[in-house]
Amino acid sequence: MGSRVCVLQNIGCSKSGPSLFENSLIGFLIGLNITKGWDMADSTERFLKDIKDIFSLTAENARGVMVRFHREMELGLSGEKSSLKMLPSFVHRPKGTEKGTFLAIDLGGTNIRVLAIRLLGDGVIEPVALSRFTISDEVMTGTGDMFFDFIAGCIEVFFRENNITKQPFNLGFTFSFPVVQSSVNSGLLISWTKGFSVSGVEGKDVVALLNDALIRNRMGFIHISALINDTVGTIAAGSYSNPLCDMGVILGTGTNACYPEKIDKIGKYSGSDALDEMIINIEWGGFDKLERNRYDEALEVNSQNPGEQRLEKMVSGMYLGEIARLIIIDMIEKGLIISREIKSLFMLPYSLTTKHLSLFASGIDIFKAAGVDNLSDKDIRCIREIANLVSTRSARIAATAIASVVTWMDHGLQYSHHIAIDGSLFEKYPGYKDIMESMFHEILGDPSEKIRLVPTHDGSGTGAAIIAALESLKKR
Ligand code: GLC
Repeated sequence: MGSRVCVLQNIGCSKSGPSLFENSLIGFLIGLNITKGWDMADSTERFLKDIKDIFSLTAENARGVMVRFHREMELGLSGEKSSLKMLPSFVHRPKGTEKGTFLAIDLGGTNIRVLAIRLLGDGVIEPVALSRFTISDEVMTGTGDMFFDFIAGCIEVFFRENNITKQPFNLGFTFSFPVVQSSVNSGLLISWTKGFSVSGVEGKDVVALLNDALIRNRMGFIHISALINDTVGTIAAGSYSNPLCDMGVILGTGTNACYPEKIDKIGKYSGSDALDEMIINIEWGGFDKLERNRYDEALEVNSQNPGEQRLEKMVSGMYLGEIARLIIIDMIEKGLIISREIKSLFMLPYSLTTKHLSLFASGIDIFKAAGVDNLSDKDIRCIREIANLVSTRSARIAATAIASVVTWMDHGLQYSHHIAIDGSLFEKYPGYKDIMESMFHEILGDPSEKIRLVPTHDGSGTGAAIIAALESLKKR
């Protein structure tokens, strides 16, 4: 994990050349024949053209992907083998009338947010308090007790720094990993994603583990009323004030989505409640029916979960910088770009992040800022083009996945669909939303106007508190 935080600021110090591991990565690329056969003269243009081809997703291909996506949804819902887990969440959308003050923990990427919100009914949400904490690599890869004690510690600090009296609270727990739930407030972690590897948690009930930690840390007065995925939080936050919202999407460090499904279409759900819909956490990061290229394969070499989260690795913020870096290394090896002195900038896995690409795409010369000012105009143009191809493919795949879910719910696109969407990639990458919208139009034509992307900032935490409200009101 250390390498993941090796950002460009550190790159300037790394002049020692590639390690054994990095050499083996280059060896792998050579083995794939990535580094052979290009004439120097016009080879840069040919190379870029080839990259453009292998990173393209045409509207026609996308329609084929949608058919396969629907098939995987169907299999997942009926409990058959599928790359889409289609996990029942045991909750439905809120009505906007729920009231009260609730706590939430939002745990997903590299930070934890603890928050309190007040629901006023009529779709109005009032923030009460918020504290943010960074999860260190040590905690992300340590033991389960260490991890859950850390979360309890964050709650303790939250009470203190916001002068909130310790008293019984209902809490919604957003846990943004694949979990098989057996009720709204229990669920077994299937496997870690996004670089987490806390030991002793896979296969265990994460609510019970958090509850034990709360008791160990003298906060047993907190009742965990709901365990939800961040996509479920996002749809809850979106639909609390907007009844047209019928999808929650995250495009950040990871990517995933959820939507409300009719109970009788969830073949694998055998509960007998009176609900007519239940939100399904698709876990679309696992979708494995997309065509991959040699750089997608190369990324697997250094991946913590080889063979898994195939769509996530092509789309989400955790990986886009790395895909771009692999292409840049390939160009360096062919002598197509980059002055050799700064070659070491790109040697460490994950040293180029999606944030760097995003800054670069918005016109900030991240290299100059890192003290490197001898990049030629051609180098800069190539890197810009690579960033553009990688991020455009990401946005087009994300749009294809959303179009798949929307057409699953509404085949003829007869109704409006507001998609609550959150995550730094969507929010911050220049032009990302526009690319998605034009892809909707390419795939679906004019009816694509029915789809509206609604940025729902920090929806995952707010949504957890809303679901906690929904659940505690049910028990009255
Ligand atoms: C990963 C997790 C998923 C989460 C997504 C976005 O794909 O498996 O549960 O929703 O990241 O954070």
